[in-house]
Amino acid sequence: MNTATKYLYSNAQVGARARLTALEQIEDKNTIALLGELGSLDGLDCLEIGAGAGSIAEWLSGQVGDAGSVTATDIEPVYLSNATYSVLRHDISTEKLPRENFDVAHIRHVLIHLDDPTSVLGKIAASLKPGGALLVEESDLSSWRVWPGSPAKLQEEFSAGVDTVLRTYEQRGMNITLGRALPQLVHDAGLIIGQRKDFRRVVAAGSPEAGYQRETAIQLSEALGAGQPGFEEISRLAECLLDPGLTYTSRTTVSVLARKPGRPAARN
Ligand SMILES: C[S@@+](CC[C@H](N)C(=O)[O-])C[C@H]1O[C@@H](n2cnc3c(N)ncnc32)[C@H](O)[C@@H]1O
Repeated sequence: MNTATKYLYSNAQVGARARLTALEQIEDKNTIALLGELGSLDGLDCLEIGAGAGSIAEWLSGQVGDAGSVTATDIEPVYLSNATYSVLRHDISTEKLPRENFDVAHIRHVLIHLDDPTSVLGKIAASLKPGGALLVEESDLSSWRVWPGSPAKLQEEFSAGVDTVLRTYEQRGMNITLGRALPQLVHDAGLIIGQRKDFRRVVAAGSPEAGYQRETAIQLSEALGAGQPGFEEISRLAECLLDPGLTYTSRTTVSVLARKPGRPAARN
């Protein structure tokens, strides 16, 4: 199975753009804070992999100035615009990166969908200059659980839906706790870890964040198809996520900021 067919959430699906934009609203603040730890990005060449709706590529392009560059890749780059950065239709699993001298690379919520995250991290590490930086961010889905106090029936339906989503992912070969393994994988790719941050929230159903989760559940049920195993449970999960009686803990996004050994890239 190639990665393009393995990926469960095609960017061409109805609702995909809203879902990607909602994801950015949840995650960008933390991502930008971590990228900010690198200091000025002026004049640097940056790579944004699996750029989705493009907000981080856009932010990076505002930081690098005229002397720098941003390359944003995606297997389905339908929401990326060439206006302020370069867009590349690219499969990070199977294709070579366009160059091997990036100063900064960022990849968020992409590795979990790939067959071989270890070799992809190795490929990204090889694309960095000595001293270049990688920010990699991935989920540990084991923290996605109902919060005590919600009505029993709601808890039951939510939990059945979450279990079905996670089982579906595992059946597709996804490592649902990949976030936890990131520090080891980054180390094994030959990079030196500077920081690790874990980001998890208590979420009320009906909130914008629950809206993101609901859109994800709807896209997944559509990808499975009516009548298929798991369709009913995941559709009910989507309904639960509208009910203000429900509270749950989110997945954990694990972020690792690391550098390739060697002299840091010269700044202008
Ligand atoms: C969950 S979205 C995350 C989007 C963005 N990184 C973010 O965090 O806002 C995953 C993105 O990775 C892209 N993607 C999936 N498989 C890919 C691959 N093999 N190579 C490049 N991009 C891929 C998808 O098209 C989608 O835009």
